[in-house]
Amino acid sequence: MPNLTGKSVLITGAGGSIGLAIVDKLASEGADFVINDMSQESAAIAANIACEHGVRAVTNNGNVTVENDVEGMVDLAVNEYEKLDIVIANAGLHITTELVNTSRAQFQRIQDVNVWGVYLTNREAAKQMIKQGFGKIINAASLSGHRATELQSVYNASKYAVVGITHAVATELAPHGITCNAYCPGMVDSAMWDGIDAERARILGVPEGQPREQALKKIPLGRMAKTDDVAGLVKYLASSDSDYITGQAIQVCGGAFMQ
Ligand SMILES: NC(=O)c1ccc[n+]([C@@H]2O[C@H](COP(=O)([O-])OP(=O)(O)OC[C@H]3O[C@@H](n4cnc5c(N)ncnc54)[C@H](O)[C@@H]3O)[C@@H](O)[C@H]2O)c1
Repeated sequence: MPNLTGKSVLITGAGGSIGLAIVDKLASEGADFVINDMSQESAAIAANIACEHGVRAVTNNGNVTVENDVEGMVDLAVNEYEKLDIVIANAGLHITTELVNTSRAQFQRIQDVNVWGVYLTNREAAKQMIKQGFGKIINAASLSGHRATELQSVYNASKYAVVGITHAVATELAPHGITCNAYCPGMVDSAMWDGIDAERARILGVPEGQPREQALKKIPLGRMAKTDDVAGLVKYLASSDSDYITGQAIQVCGGAFMQ
């Protein structure tokens, strides 16, 4: 029997590259979904992927930075499935900027989605999970939450914060039977990395593709992650196999960084 049958999952930003892979993987294990993405079209694509596995999926187009919207996502899960077993705070934005050219607006936009959006999703899920006495919170951090890279100070700040939130939430919610962990992808073959390559090439004045080649050289396993590599870790964190694991921010980076 698939090991997530009967589990309800709320995932934010589900219509992006990594979100779609997570939905596919967890739906193949029998999970039912509340699928959030600000883009209605992307949310519908994710829901179709889930439904192809014969599970239930409802969509939500809320913004993870808006309190009423996130409350609504948790309410939707409870109304549909009577509980919320797993929340995946996956929505996030990237920006490539030079420190000296970064504006307050750019900084705040990224922190709002990547930090406040994750914190708010954790907070609202926690209210329900504390009532239930169980739950798994899974946050999208990044290799950039463990290691800094040039032209990424704003993104690094946000992902280090997600790791901090994950530690704090894990500590505070452990007495309630709730775990909190983070997945930390390195370089993923995704739309986000296509954008990073283009922006880095523009700022550094090098041909497109060169930033990607340089970054690839630092990966011992010699390739970018597939979105499915990330989804595999999330499946593990969502399953009972990880019940004794909390407060961890686990890297999926092909060995690019080792601790
Ligand atoms: N792609 C990578 O190489 C990589 C590496 C490390 C970490 N990550 C992290 O993994 C997560 C997913 O990344 P991805 O590559 O799938 O990104 P993506 O850009 O493909 O998808 C992000 C999705 O989030 C949605 N979204 C954005 N802002 C939102 C908001 N305020 N409310 C609701 N939805 C919103 C977008 O519509 C989009 O569908 C992000 O947190 C990202 O920072 C990605």
